[in-house]
Amino acid sequence: MTADLFEAVLDVRPPREAMADGAVLLRGFAKPVEADLIAALRAIVAQAPFRHMFTPGGHQMSVAMTNCGGAGWVTDRNGYRYDGADPESGKPWPAMPPVFCELASQAAAQVGFDGFAPDACLINRYAPGARMSLHQDKDEQDFSAPIVSVSLGLPAIFLFGGIKRSDKPRRYRLAHGDVAVWGGPSRLFFHGVAPLAFGEHAAMGHQRINLTFRKAR
Ligand code: SIN
Ligand code: FE2
Repeated sequence: MTADLFEAVLDVRPPREAMADGAVLLRGFAKPVEADLIAALRAIVAQAPFRHMFTPGGHQMSVAMTNCGGAGWVTDRNGYRYDGADPESGKPWPAMPPVFCELASQAAAQVGFDGFAPDACLINRYAPGARMSLHQDKDEQDFSAPIVSVSLGLPAIFLFGGIKRSDKPRRYRLAHGDVAVWGGPSRLFFHGVAPLAFGEHAAMGHQRINLTFRKAR
């Protein structure tokens, strides 16, 4: 039986899968703290609601975003940047909850990045049809720190390419509780998310939430 068929029949996927040098998918790694993550997320969104930001080129993003932590990633007509305050309210972004920080740090350590202390957490909300085109995470000052990405809710197809935009991306299914880490040699690899398929998740409803942790400053 091929590995794919084996997975499709029994839904047993390896708990740890290498995507590239320095890039690993940790399946189900966030599951033990899912209830705490969801509760903390609700509190953040009550203070800093999701919004559809505009790219510098004037396109409104299909993914809705908010942030927590000392620095929040924003985009508007003036470009991409990190900002300590939410431009919608003028107030600092909500603090990063300890459960977020600890999970990100533990996931990074699993992949050999000890001492990861994120100061930024971009929170992406995908409704069915929402997608994120291939891009590099390169607005951070410190590329020695990895990116840690936590998936909640509906599953998505994550596209993970290479250092060149033209490198053909591989496709990985990211499900509720999965954590992807990329750093070191793959820190600047292109990645994106295919349009979200319709579905319903027991805890999260008709959406996918992604928490992306970075060391921005
Ligand atoms: C991102 O690259 O910011 C988002 C990745 C994801 O949603 O899995
Ligand atoms: Fe990204």
